[in-house]
Amino acid sequence: MPIQTTPNIWHNGKLIPWEQATIHVMSHVVHYGSSVFEGIRCYSQPSGAAIFRLPEHMQRLLDSAKIYRMDVPYSLEELCAAVVDVIEANGVSPCYIRPIILRGYGEIGVSPKGSPIEVYIANFPWGKYIQGSGGADVCVSSWNRMAPNTLPSLAKAGANYMNSQLIHMEAEVNGYAEGIALDVNGLISEGSGENVFVVRNGVLYTPPLANSALSGITRDSVLTIARHLGLPVTEQALPRELLYIADEVFFSGTAAEVSSIRSVDHVTVGDGKPGEITKKIADEFFGIASGLKPDRFGWLTPVKLAATEPAAV
Ligand SMILES: Cc1ncc(COP(=O)(O)O)c(C=O)c1O
Repeated sequence: MPIQTTPNIWHNGKLIPWEQATIHVMSHVVHYGSSVFEGIRCYSQPSGAAIFRLPEHMQRLLDSAKIYRMDVPYSLEELCAAVVDVIEANGVSPCYIRPIILRGYGEIGVSPKGSPIEVYIANFPWGKYIQGSGGADVCVSSWNRMAPNTLPSLAKAGANYMNSQLIHMEAEVNGYAEGIALDVNGLISEGSGENVFVVRNGVLYTPPLANSALSGITRDSVLTIARHLGLPVTEQALPRELLYIADEVFFSGTAAEVSSIRSVDHVTVGDGKPGEITKKIADEFFGIASGLKPDRFGWLTPVKLAATEPAAV
């Protein structure tokens, strides 16, 4: 989807015009993939707008930076305040927020020490990510997720998304909405940009983080909601074939939100319709995010917007 621009981007403590948020082609990140980033959503509410799980996202950003030994000159509180500032300055809701920390223009060579840390935060409208009304048709990818001790899965690093691109492009050229990748041992890991959940006989399953999955904030929200609803939940290693005999399968993610899956490799999931447990969890998730249900877990950060525009869906 083409990017819809907004007036400002936050850069190293200041708001600058969107067009001026550029980097040099010789920046370290361009050659060596040295960036960590986040994806966050801000939802419109009856009384304004609110960012979904902002501190958790910014903490994961700092964790990703720490794994890659990037010294970030901003605290968690400063980064959260910066997100609020850029949204309020741009006045766009609902929106998607993209903070990124990268190694900029300095030296050539793999060592990143001589290249400066740059922090940017952009926000822009972004609608539905996973295509398919009534559930997505997906495949199991021929590509595996990164093996442990290669590219760390707990870091949301730009470089990991070369693997995601292979998974997603393969799915797309074969006519699927998305691909589910297995880990290096053939166990279910995650989608190219989503965590995956399976329901069978009333139990909700998701792979543990050790199966090369990102520690999704939406994954955690789904687990929290499921426990709150009294559903049995288990994080355990899952064989591929569970996808074919599941009653329900769905993705979770900031971009994907809670998206039901209708078929995997052309095998219909359950009766081919969004399942009851998926619907219950999605209902609670969207209810909280959109301010129609109580923020019982303290997930929302309010923002003040003078005027709001709807996102193009
Ligand atoms: C590879 C991958 N897994 C899982 C997720 C879901 O994470 P979250 O719910 O924090 O957006 C994402 C999206 O950020 C992702 O890119």
